[in-house]
Amino acid sequence: MLPKLLRTECLIGGKWVGSKSGKTFEVINPATEEVLASVPRMGHEDVQTAITAAESAYPKWKAMTAAARGNILDLWAEKMREHSEELSQLLTLEQGKVIAESRIEIEYAASFLSWFAGEGKRLYGDTIPSHRTDSRILVIKQPIGVCAGITPWNFPSAMVTRKAAPALAAGNCMILKPAETTPLSALAIATLAEEAGVPAGVFNVVTGARKDAPEIGNALTSSPIVKKISFTGSTLVGKFLVRSCADNLTKLSLELGGNAPFIVFDDADFDDALLGVQICKYRNSGQTCISANRILVHSKLHDRFVEALSNCAAKLISGLGTEDGVTQGPLIESRAMEKVERLVKDAIDKGATLVTGGKRHELGGTFYEPTVLCDVTNEMAIVHEEIFGPVAAIMRFETEDEAISIANDTPYGLAGYFYSRDVGKIFRVAEALDVGIVGVNTGLISTEIAPFGGVKESGTGREGSKYGIDDWTSIKYICLSGLEK
Ligand code: SIN
Repeated sequence: MLPKLLRTECLIGGKWVGSKSGKTFEVINPATEEVLASVPRMGHEDVQTAITAAESAYPKWKAMTAAARGNILDLWAEKMREHSEELSQLLTLEQGKVIAESRIEIEYAASFLSWFAGEGKRLYGDTIPSHRTDSRILVIKQPIGVCAGITPWNFPSAMVTRKAAPALAAGNCMILKPAETTPLSALAIATLAEEAGVPAGVFNVVTGARKDAPEIGNALTSSPIVKKISFTGSTLVGKFLVRSCADNLTKLSLELGGNAPFIVFDDADFDDALLGVQICKYRNSGQTCISANRILVHSKLHDRFVEALSNCAAKLISGLGTEDGVTQGPLIESRAMEKVERLVKDAIDKGATLVTGGKRHELGGTFYEPTVLCDVTNEMAIVHEEIFGPVAAIMRFETEDEAISIANDTPYGLAGYFYSRDVGKIFRVAEALDVGIVGVNTGLISTEIAPFGGVKESGTGREGSKYGIDDWTSIKYICLSGLEK
């Protein structure tokens, strides 16, 4: 199956190659634990080859018009849409999410290519009223050069194009390192990049096993040729990258961990909030950086909400993502399962009430039952750590100030959500939440046309929207003088 898009070599400098060491590692289907393929275990030398290829491709790519680059990105998007079904199947096989969500992700991934194909043409500069009569001040935005993207496993396709599309649209070349658990989607997308006419060396993919990550990361951060790295993943690794990038002052964009509050005020539309929290919590089996991590429900609605949500959670169907009717896939790997188990146990030990779920699913492997806990308090680890699993942790609150104070009581600040019909409260709370993204009366905020990114320990930089291309450029000020007769 999938003969064309299932690639087991990496694209470097326009060639499909194995690693210099000849070593490979296995990609496992998390739902069945079957081996899907073996892909190269790349290291320092391989990354060096990719950097050299990107450096050689850069002058020509940068010199092209934004429209010409945009046409290639548009064609790449078209090819992704043409192959949507194969890409979705592959995504579900290696990541486990249900096929309906994979289809949505493929369209989401293609949308970044289409969006930035246009944004490249709108990378406007500026003219500034001059400080001298004989001069004029111009500002232009230029590409940075050779860049790298390090992408996570939870959105193995969309995170690739969310980085590659603005990077390439602005005239940069890229080396992409996909997550070790989900490299196949990135390789498939690279195949389509090649078909769409992305020139050799402009987009390169290097794969590696978990134990290769430090070597690959070091090869990127220690290279004076790599001018920027964009990383999506844990705050721990993000901080490590900040330290590693210090010597070369490599520019960094970081989309890191989250701990999203999801607040249901007493004036919320109950049914809307119930639907919103299900999407926000159980999408991708809770494995998104913007999943509702702490669900705060006003005491007036609390008991009814807990009961309704647990009824909904109990109806979710776990299974193979490729099967019809299944709504919940597995967790990505056993480490994720162990974390979810630890957090649930700690919460129950400290007084949380288990309303539904709360254990490994009878399907075995890394399937975990959709779970609802209430009476969750600040003493529990589940309130402070990113759950990354299908566990709804519900807390009770009384006042608006209390809800805001609980919501902001975390070092993270990626997304926050709340439900209210009171326009004054909507502005007050949206402005008071210490996050980069606020969903008001919605649990789904992802779109290519809006800026995605966090504050505090959730990172720096924005992806998507008109702001998302700025991170891939450097601003040059040109002082044009000697203009008087
Ligand atoms: C993420 O979890 O990092 C991305 C989620 C999204 O874009 O919806």
